Amino acid sequence: MILAVGCDHAGFVLKAAVTGFLGGRAEVMDCGVSREEEPFDYPDIALKVAREVSEGRANMGVLMCGTGIGMAVTANKIRGVRAAACNDVESARLGKAHNDLNILTLGGRVITPDPVAPSLDTWLSTSFEGGRHLVRINRIAAAEASVLSSDSPESGRVVVFNHPLVQHKISIIRDKNTSVKEFRELVQEIAGLMVYEITRNLPLSEIEVETPVAMTTAWTLAGKKLAVVPVLRAGLGMVDGILQLIPNAKVGHIGLYRDPETLNPVEYYCKLPQDIGERDIFVLDPMLATGGSAAAAISLIRARGGQKVSLVCLIAAPEGIKKVHELHPEVDIFIAALDGRLNDHGYIVPGLGDAGDRLFGTK
Ligand code: RB5
Repeated sequence: MILAVGCDHAGFVLKAAVTGFLGGRAEVMDCGVSREEEPFDYPDIALKVAREVSEGRANMGVLMCGTGIGMAVTANKIRGVRAAACNDVESARLGKAHNDLNILTLGGRVITPDPVAPSLDTWLSTSFEGGRHLVRINRIAAAEASVLSSDSPESGRVVVFNHPLVQHKISIIRDKNTSVKEFRELVQEIAGLMVYEITRNLPLSEIEVETPVAMTTAWTLAGKKLAVVPVLRAGLGMVDGILQLIPNAKVGHIGLYRDPETLNPVEYYCKLPQDIGERDIFVLDPMLATGGSAAAAISLIRARGGQKVSLVCLIAAPEGIKKVHELHPEVDIFIAALDGRLNDHGYIVPGLGDAGDRLFGTK
């Protein structure tokens, strides 16, 4: 296990005790600072450690300032970080068991080095309880994911569409009593609403138009080339809703099945527009569950020259987002809802069941 450790001047003495204690139990990644005398701005160190944890170079982190508060406030700005000041053993225990804290912060002006070892020991040896606490953690992740930006320019965004119309329609398609006809219509409508928002920044160019009254300058799409690529078969349910808005988009198709032995997705069909390398590509897959087929579809597109790929899904599980971003960190993922988890059969919970079966009435 790798633990990233950092402090400012007010946490410096504590850091020596912490690294001494951790040294025997984990690999310590020292992110500074290395002198006590000068005042250091704690956000710089907090962001450094938080990024090491968020980007997977460290498993967890420990940050120390005067109180632990400034470090926690800063570290929590980084995606996937759950940091809190735990200057006593019980906070450290519950912070892990209930909140799955991946960064512990401590206050050099609040506790002395002596009681630090029991707090650290408790935090490290306590397990996250999951269950109802996982549901809550996933709510936090959903709130974080709905922010339309990412921490680093290289990493893709996760955008959750919390528009009331989208949320209303998602609730209807979740309902197991919704008919096939209504389900199909709503999937198209939601896909259209999502793409309306996704294409908000398409480039425009000026044109001259003669109205019945006068000549005027107006705006036209600057001819950006787009492609939609549904992953068969459920992705087909989203295509028409999108083509209603961007009728000149080209449509590719990707078919994948799961190898019964390896459980890996295997290509059985792939037909993409010839100039795929010049197009902005929207991969369509209503359910992002394990992320295996979406990631494989993106790999196929890339292997055929596709450059700028986004993934558009209706409902996603955190596991699927993680998988896609592990393999394709630059891909933007657009979703209408982020659900809690996968069940043992790989279905999203609560989800909406099998989108393909519900679209085509096969069950
Ligand atoms: C530094 O004086 C102090 O403000 C800092 O270490 C920390 O306690 C902030 O939260």
